[in-house]
Amino acid sequence: MQTTSNVQAYRAGLLTFHADPAFSERAHSWYEDGLLIVADGKIQAIGDWATLRDTLSPDTPVTDYRGKIISAGFIDAHIHYPQTDMIASPAPGLLPWLEQYTFPTERAFADPAHAASVADFFLNELMRVGTTTALVYCTVHPQSVDAFFTASEERGLRMIAGKVMMDRNCPDFLSDTAEQGARETEELIKRWHNHGRSQYAITPRFAPTSTEAQMELAGALARKYPDTYLQTHVSENEDECKWVQQLYPNARSYLDVYDHYGMLRPRAVFGHCIWLDDQDRARMAETKSAAAVCPTSNLFLGSGLFDFEEADKTGMLMALATDVGAGTSFSMLQTMNEAYKVARLKGSYLPALRMFYLSTLGAARSLHLEGTIGSLAAGNEADFIVLDPQATPLLARRTGRTESLEEMLFALALLGDDRVISATYSAGKLVHKRES
Ligand code: GUN
Ligand code: ZN
Repeated sequence: MQTTSNVQAYRAGLLTFHADPAFSERAHSWYEDGLLIVADGKIQAIGDWATLRDTLSPDTPVTDYRGKIISAGFIDAHIHYPQTDMIASPAPGLLPWLEQYTFPTERAFADPAHAASVADFFLNELMRVGTTTALVYCTVHPQSVDAFFTASEERGLRMIAGKVMMDRNCPDFLSDTAEQGARETEELIKRWHNHGRSQYAITPRFAPTSTEAQMELAGALARKYPDTYLQTHVSENEDECKWVQQLYPNARSYLDVYDHYGMLRPRAVFGHCIWLDDQDRARMAETKSAAAVCPTSNLFLGSGLFDFEEADKTGMLMALATDVGAGTSFSMLQTMNEAYKVARLKGSYLPALRMFYLSTLGAARSLHLEGTIGSLAAGNEADFIVLDPQATPLLARRTGRTESLEEMLFALALLGDDRVISATYSAGKLVHKRES
């Protein structure tokens, strides 16, 4: 019998993963009438209502979410919080988009009050779409990182973020230097890495905006602090790839530039990975680096189509991601919608179960956080979301007729967005409730 008063229980359909559905037939558990028990911010038990109900003390509150689905919170493996206000800004491709919109927008984050106000809106938006953890780019300004973690810690969220390092091919007002970028990064690691639920990501923006001296120092920090994250962009756009070839003529490939500086390692997450070749993908797998796959961004900027099939041949880690502000939605459901179509255009197929995996446990594995977040397993932090299959009239009609879990999740992914997220919980605390 549970006796403690800090126990909370939730009755709903429960969906959780133990493995990758692409490689395992028994990858998920589905409890149609399930019970999730949470104590002290952690998951204590998960199972069928009929089995677990008798383990509850009579005074344990049970929130009745019957008709809804509880899943682990979504994890967004690549997003730029400073780009919130410029989402949906049109430009003919990545490089003009960076020049015209991104750099001027990021300039404003020198002001800590502006950074705090955008961080606040951004985190509210993540909660509204059911994203409980994200790997986040800040700007070149250290104060943009302080503002972000201050806001995420106020809410008790598990977040990973870092200061952009860039010391060339960018406006002077956004440029650090190799030494300054490394010093500020190290100070931020000491201030924020493993501070509460915050973790730090060393963040060279991408190879074209760092000198070789900066790449060297970023790689040295990645070796000195092996349990930090490292995030950057790779092989997103063909013009960008050609540019990298000119800037680093001795590298075998764009990914090889990062490899040369020792940046391929567990907890290194590379945004996009569209134009990788077989050797690159094998190297990603071998080094346990992860790809952040950003379909709404890639379609929006016309960057290209990620090859899920070739990636799966190597078993490399991957996760879905929005890449807002080039991404056009904060919602991981909308991200799945576009990922599905990208896979179709490449002649392959992404089942809904796989897409939910790639937004939960698959992402946690990519971040080496399995056992902490990403699944509804006893002992994990209680970051979970409540999805409503009847959130809109159309969804209610469609999901009223679906004949399997796969069909139901597929409808949620293709038709759903923030309206599907009834509630978001972080470490057992309600952080968003949708007004209906
Ligand atoms: N490559 C370098 N910086 C960026 C950025 O901010 N967004 C995207 N999509 N690609 C980049
Ligand atoms: Zn990005």
